[in-house]
Amino acid sequence: MQRLGRLSGTIHTFDGVTATIERGSATAPVGSPRPAAERTPRVSTPPPARHSRLRSSNGRKAVMAVTGAVLVLYLIAHMAGNLKIFYGAAAFNEYAAWLREVGHPLVPNRTVLTLVEVVLAVCVLAHMWSAISLARRAHRARPVKYAARPKSQASGYAVHTMRFGGIIILLFVIWHLLDLTFATVNPAGPAGAPYDRMVEGFAAGRWPVTLFYVLALLMVGLHLRHGLWSAFQTLGVVGARREKALKLAAAGVSGLLVLGFMAVPLAITFGVVK
Ligand code: HEM
Repeated sequence: MQRLGRLSGTIHTFDGVTATIERGSATAPVGSPRPAAERTPRVSTPPPARHSRLRSSNGRKAVMAVTGAVLVLYLIAHMAGNLKIFYGAAAFNEYAAWLREVGHPLVPNRTVLTLVEVVLAVCVLAHMWSAISLARRAHRARPVKYAARPKSQASGYAVHTMRFGGIIILLFVIWHLLDLTFATVNPAGPAGAPYDRMVEGFAAGRWPVTLFYVLALLMVGLHLRHGLWSAFQTLGVVGARREKALKLAAAGVSGLLVLGFMAVPLAITFGVVK
């Protein structure tokens, strides 16, 4: 038996047998160190697949497409909920209360709503992060503008619509939360019932608010139309034959959503809903 030394205790091996000591994930041979030439060369380990995927432009485009899809689904549900206002005050207030109570008594009140809010906030941040990082990367790749005016949809008009549209939508959402969720800038105030907040918020005398909503919703529509079209391209579903149909689908979904949203403030301002 050969005595090897102390490593939190004495380790013995049978004569002639090389024992190994596990140190973390590496396996180190016991005994005198091997000559340098024999040692395994150090290979830098690549970053975990998840990180390298997020580093690639396609990975970031996928983040944008997935978070955008979640936001579109939220908008469809939100628009459908808003249209409840046409069923009267009781139906709308009931719907607003249900939003807070959904899942009860399985989970405490507001659990599902809080979850939705967290998912929305994460999606908005991830969507903005991927948009900004992709724009920066594109700028680094071509700091000098094309001499000729670009014809591609992904540049020029569309880029401006997406960037400035995105900023306007963000400002709109901030105002919108202060107006209808926290009601700090709403005449009905935080104590007002959801229906009263809507009716007082878009009253004829507050037409500039309605106008701001209409303009912001037009930006939402343009942003959505281009976003949906880009998502189809990212997902690789666009073919020569399908291009026209998918462009129409993007415009149709965005148009319906904008009209559905606009119907509420316009109906209140013009006295259809009182
Ligand atoms: C005319 C159009 C719209 C109307 C009348 C409207 C109405 C409302 C109302 C009444 C609430 C409060 C819900 C509650 O707390 O009970 C709300 C919340 C919210 N809205 Fe809108 N909305 C409109 C458009 C939009 C658009 C276009 C977006 C996004 C781009 C949006 C995003 C949100 C968000 C993020 C919340 C907060 C959700 C939460 O806290 O759970 N809304 N909206």
